Amino acid sequence: MDNRDEFPILKRGLYANHAAISPWPRVTAQAVSDFAEENCLLGPEKYARWLLRETRLRQRLALMLNAPSPNDIALLKNTTEGICTVANGIDWSSGDNVVLPLGEFPSNRLPWLALQRQGVEVREVDIRHTADPEAALLTRIDEHTRLLSVSAVQWTDGLRLKLEVLGAACKQAGTLFFVDAIQHLGALQMNVQNNGIDFLAADGHKWLLAPEGIAVFYCSKNAREQLRLNQHGWRAGKDVRVQHPGGWRVPRIKLASFRPP
Ligand SMILES: Cc1ncc(COP(=O)(O)O)c(C=O)c1O
Repeated sequence: MDNRDEFPILKRGLYANHAAISPWPRVTAQAVSDFAEENCLLGPEKYARWLLRETRLRQRLALMLNAPSPNDIALLKNTTEGICTVANGIDWSSGDNVVLPLGEFPSNRLPWLALQRQGVEVREVDIRHTADPEAALLTRIDEHTRLLSVSAVQWTDGLRLKLEVLGAACKQAGTLFFVDAIQHLGALQMNVQNNGIDFLAADGHKWLLAPEGIAVFYCSKNAREQLRLNQHGWRAGKDVRVQHPGGWRVPRIKLASFRPP
């Protein structure tokens, strides 16, 4: 099959992808409509299978990012939620600073600026009027820099930063390294370990050709120890089991059986 058949939108003319919200290929539309149909006909009867699919998705995302383990991967609703999880999860002290390029997408700017009320300085660095954007960022890192946050590919002009250079320098400085990868994943390869990335977030609705509302979030084991969870859900524990104060329990779902072979 010609890959173009996957994109009926092409019948309407030439589609120039500008990496905002991609049109769905047929395979995406089919997966969403199959799931809607299943819910219509069966409700959550196949819930165990949903959990298995979730586990498999995290495994595949771990492979895609070269993350050490699927346990380093969480599914969130969008890139912004990933950024906010970090911005609101670090135990900031007054006098800390965050470094980021000037002109980042608002999702990778506003959550950091909001930290100013906790005494955190936000250093927005002009990386456009220089021959060496990585050096421009790194010269603004000092002993009070807790975190460097960049988009892997800039949303305005497609500027691609050398993540391995930034990650290595962050490691040396003891600075956390956050990457917004929404403009990168699906079009370019990613290796969180080689690039020294502590946190990465990306929604699927650009080059990954997924619907809006599902995002990958990577957090290295080491960085996890510095992160406080600010949203607690009923599935946050290891055991998917709900206990009522009256003593009854929702039957335990055997997680072991969800592990794919
Ligand atoms: C670089 C960048 N970061 C974040 C976002 C917003 O992502 P989300 O809607 O997944 O929060 C966009 C959307 O265009 C973007 O280009």
